[in-house]
Amino acid sequence: MKKFISIIFTLFILALLYSCTSTTDTEPSLSEDEINKKISQHLQKFTIEQKVGQMMMPEYNSVSAQEIKTYNIGSVIFGAGQHPNANHIVWANRYNNLQRAALSSPTAIPLLFGIDAVHGHNAVRGATLFPHLIGLGAANDPELMEKIGYITAKEMARTGINWNFSPSVAVVQNVQWGRTYESLGEHPELQSALTYNYVKGLQKENRLATAKHFLGDGGTNLRDNSGGPWSIDQGNVSISYEDLYDIHLPGYLEAIKADVGAIMVSYSSFQGIKMHENIELITGLLKETLEFKGIVVSDYDGIKQIPNKNYYHQLVAAVNAGIDVLMEPHTWKEAHGHIVNAVKKGDIPLERIDDAVSRILRIKYKLGLFDNPLVKIDGRPLSTEEHRLVAREAVRKSLVLLKNENNLLPLSKTSNVLLLGPGIDNLALQNGGWTVRWQGAESGDVIEGTTIREAFQEVSEGRVYTDLNDASKADVVVLVLAETPYAEGWGDNGYLDICFGLENQGSYTAHPDNLQAIEDALATRLPIVVILLAGRPMIVTDFIDDWDSFVMAWLPGSEGGLGIADCIFGDYDFTGKLPVTWPKTRFQLGETVLKENYNEKDYLFPYGYGLSYK
Ligand code: BGC
Repeated sequence: MKKFISIIFTLFILALLYSCTSTTDTEPSLSEDEINKKISQHLQKFTIEQKVGQMMMPEYNSVSAQEIKTYNIGSVIFGAGQHPNANHIVWANRYNNLQRAALSSPTAIPLLFGIDAVHGHNAVRGATLFPHLIGLGAANDPELMEKIGYITAKEMARTGINWNFSPSVAVVQNVQWGRTYESLGEHPELQSALTYNYVKGLQKENRLATAKHFLGDGGTNLRDNSGGPWSIDQGNVSISYEDLYDIHLPGYLEAIKADVGAIMVSYSSFQGIKMHENIELITGLLKETLEFKGIVVSDYDGIKQIPNKNYYHQLVAAVNAGIDVLMEPHTWKEAHGHIVNAVKKGDIPLERIDDAVSRILRIKYKLGLFDNPLVKIDGRPLSTEEHRLVAREAVRKSLVLLKNENNLLPLSKTSNVLLLGPGIDNLALQNGGWTVRWQGAESGDVIEGTTIREAFQEVSEGRVYTDLNDASKADVVVLVLAETPYAEGWGDNGYLDICFGLENQGSYTAHPDNLQAIEDALATRLPIVVILLAGRPMIVTDFIDDWDSFVMAWLPGSEGGLGIADCIFGDYDFTGKLPVTWPKTRFQLGETVLKENYNEKDYLFPYGYGLSYK
């Protein structure tokens, strides 16, 4: 109880601080008073239909330019993977075309455009792709977070897109969860340390960041015991309020301190109540206690998951709970009609609608969107050498050295290396989900970057072989194992064996070629360095004794090859530390450092583990 009171006290202090220190990086040309005046002028002129239009977020493919004008639409989402393989010029033209439609409407309110730029501007061809968040949790470097955020914002600005559905501040409590790599780690000290700087960086260049998914997304119970897809994601969080606040809130407190513009609601439930209808936590905690002044946005079609209600009542519950922007990408028109009716019938108070529209307009003014709504088309490449160097630094810092028998690493630059395994030459595996497409790129060819093979050839002065027949000419095997790309519940996996389908248990996220590659490496009788490209720990207990060195590389992104080569050949030391506990057996999955009686000896590697050369 004492702990609970101290949390409430901390929340209160933070709320006070927030109300005194709310700033943006680029000061808007209008003062807060002037913005408020403009907002009330708009509210006086808007019809109910136009107000509700501002709250709608259709998918780009599901709305026409004419509908944007007729409905006074407030924002548009570029849904993950729905617009693949286009470069920044194509994206900038899409942006300008629709923005012009909004500006030529009777209200002339500019649009917000939302996208998931969760490890760089990852849907856009030619973007700099950073390690996914789990790797940045291993790096645990606040300044680096700000740089990465800033570069992401800069690359977004080149396409016009002004609203990023990032960062996830999820605190993963179970590495079987398919969104583990979207989390900085299992202990909220990581979200506390890194979120503020990341949000500051992401919101430079007049972009808007989104802390997600409010609240408790990383703490869901198993939904079923299949261990298959969707067996964890979007489930129920059954912990106490005290634990909810202790574990899952710190990231939001930091995001709010950094003046984050938006917060996205989680698909999950808390104590059996879907977060999308949780008025106590959205309006009570977030808007009233924490005085969050930005936009609360629903998750993609999330409102439809509110149980036991028809669509009309689901929408009423969500809006009354405090949701301001409705990400109902393909049913926005129906949603619009229902909400207008609900206001007319008195099921949703007009003040609630005015609150939502005020928040949306305030953000648009703060972003300077009324002054600078269009993007200048600029043909120069999106990524720059400077951006790539930061990504390479992030890769180096994210790597965790877990084993190094007889100091096999660093390799001498003159050693001859045999590269084996599915990950040696594959940018799709290096980048994982949320890259080009929602579930990851269909092939590495659509991503610009450097593979491990290419990087080894660039950095090493010895020979780099990739054919098992050349084993006799090599001094060492570097074996690159991998998880196949996935996103969200498609990646839920109760059997995280490093080998696909081991013991008929179907570890379907392990790459199917891992087992053969492990056997090939052993057959060479050379010393073995294993590098793992994966979004989370995998069960390696039966194999690790045969490996001399073992490096966890997470999902390192476009510069993954170069960053890995930097450390393997000793130009830089390893500094990364495990942001999640590494289980010994599948029966330990779902356990974290926050569990009572956590005994680090029970695990293969505890939270915080990581070796260096020195
Ligand atoms: C995910 C969110 C994401 C949204 C928009 C949802 O499926 O849960 O994290 O921001 O889609 O793409």
